[in-house]
Amino acid sequence: MKPDLQRRVQRYGWDYSSPYYQKGWERQLRPAQQKLIEEIDLQLGKKVLDISCGTGLVTYPIAKAVGVEGEIIGIDLSEKMIEKARNIFNDREIKNVEFRHMDAEELDFEDACFDIGVNSLGLMYYPNPDKAIQEMHRVTKPGGRAAALVWGRRKACGWAAIFPIVDRRVESDVCPLFFQLGTGDTLAQEFKDAGFVDIESERFEVLLPYETDEEALISAFQGGAVALAYRKFDEQTKEGAHAEYIESIQPFSSGTGYEIPGEFVIVSGNKSG
Ligand SMILES: C[S@@+](CC[C@H](N)C(=O)[O-])C[C@H]1O[C@@H](n2cnc3c(N)ncnc32)[C@H](O)[C@@H]1O
Repeated sequence: MKPDLQRRVQRYGWDYSSPYYQKGWERQLRPAQQKLIEEIDLQLGKKVLDISCGTGLVTYPIAKAVGVEGEIIGIDLSEKMIEKARNIFNDREIKNVEFRHMDAEELDFEDACFDIGVNSLGLMYYPNPDKAIQEMHRVTKPGGRAAALVWGRRKACGWAAIFPIVDRRVESDVCPLFFQLGTGDTLAQEFKDAGFVDIESERFEVLLPYETDEEALISAFQGGAVALAYRKFDEQTKEGAHAEYIESIQPFSSGTGYEIPGEFVIVSGNKSG
């Protein structure tokens, strides 16, 4: 897929997912996101960039950790995600967070202006994740730290059938390189190539709980990467895709719902200086 097309698919796809994202993923992603937060040294007063912040699921614990003396900027390519995040943070009366519409591959910030850079589950969607990691390195202050969370290997993610199920019905690859960064030491190598040092890498599994078929379907089809393609399905196509997806997650039935395995990788590194 050409980079510009991929960017458009992402931008408008996530616009469409924005009302469903928290419903589909908030509870399921919490353990992995907490691990990411623990990985970075969040102290009071730090200035943090949250790249691909979405609705702010990670921005919120960061804001609490750095306190009112700290400053956080969340950026995302989807204007609807940014709008949603702004509303959530306004309702919570959090004042030290600003959200901006921006592409992770072209950060509109000066060099070396953040203590910490974070990217939670954004990198898999960019045409050039290496460029985004270089940009994260550029805007991090010398002595600062950056960390990224990505999904792990395809075979270790129990929900992965969603991609071929949707791809077959649109005759294209919705997210062709989705699992690449989380396979082998690809992400750690990209951090190294971008100039980070003292790199740490961790691979771990989380069980993603779903109470009902409906919850699992919203998460897979409307809450994420395939949402734009799914939106164009007619009712019959939707029904066929739903049945196939529910069939694919049967091995993870818990009796009352599902416990779908998901593998994640966290990589972090320092900017020397
Ligand atoms: C799975 S969500 C992650 C949201 C949040 N960080 C979290 O952990 O819940 C992926 C986000 O990446 C954003 N995204 C996709 N391509 C992007 C790009 N090129 N630049 C910035 N954000 C992008 C999407 O709009 C979406 O909000």
